[in-house]
Amino acid sequence: MKYGSGIAAVDHYVNKEYDSVFGMSSQFAAIIAAHVMDHQTKLGISGNIAEIGTFEGRFFIAMALATQPGEKGVGIDTFEWPSPKVRDKLHAHMVRLGVRTADMTILTANSENLKPANISGPAGGPVRFFHVDGDHNPKALKHDLDLAYAVMHPQGVICLDDMLHPGFPLLTVAVYEWLEKHGDMRVFCVIDREDIVAAPKFMLCKHEAAALYEEDLLKAFPEWHFDAASQWGKWIAIVLTPNPRFAIVE
Ligand SMILES: C[S@@+](CC[C@H](N)C(=O)[O-])C[C@H]1O[C@@H](n2cnc3c(N)ncnc32)[C@H](O)[C@@H]1O
Repeated sequence: MKYGSGIAAVDHYVNKEYDSVFGMSSQFAAIIAAHVMDHQTKLGISGNIAEIGTFEGRFFIAMALATQPGEKGVGIDTFEWPSPKVRDKLHAHMVRLGVRTADMTILTANSENLKPANISGPAGGPVRFFHVDGDHNPKALKHDLDLAYAVMHPQGVICLDDMLHPGFPLLTVAVYEWLEKHGDMRVFCVIDREDIVAAPKFMLCKHEAAALYEEDLLKAFPEWHFDAASQWGKWIAIVLTPNPRFAIVE
């Protein structure tokens, strides 16, 4: 399957170079995220990008290639696993794949120790797309969500990795508990992934911004829309999946 976000540089990277950057995020999710960023640009929503858990940069590079001139980015990781060399690999990938490295700040840090100013400072303003993919324990996720919320553009998006992953079932509970305390926020899209590991990403935004994204996603990707919505009690969210179907149990 060939994926298209509407941004040529991202589409080239995701379809031709994605596997050259070791990482965990799916091509499908990178394309949807870049499409959302392209849509933000068209709506005049400008701002920066940030990611916790940048690793070798697989998803960060897609986000960075979707930024506009003048927009900045912050990539945060402890860069300890599998060795500190991972930070050098990230830098080499960014250079090789045409990212504006001068606009990207790479922070070697445990997000637990960061304050919002550590992110909005280097970025120099609100963040319009924030990918949270760091420590996969519920307390850390709530902390990272607080950081992302504190720096987000009012119409921005927070994207969460590894939701519903069999290995991290309590992350979804943490998101639900966090949303109960942040009544202005909701999940507006669940991005499924290509393989058997059920680890979708959730995209969150403020309630009043949801309509900006939902209609556009349904129009842009009708073939990937799973008709039955994702049920969140007080609202529903779109589900995008590479293979929309009901499970066949034989
Ligand atoms: C699953 S990998 C990220 C994959 C990457 N985003 C991608 O798309 O390929 C998770 C990363 O989070 C980092 N990490 C874990 N806990 C962290 C923390 N508390 N602060 C910053 N980074 C953390 C790890 O070092 C690891 O590189």
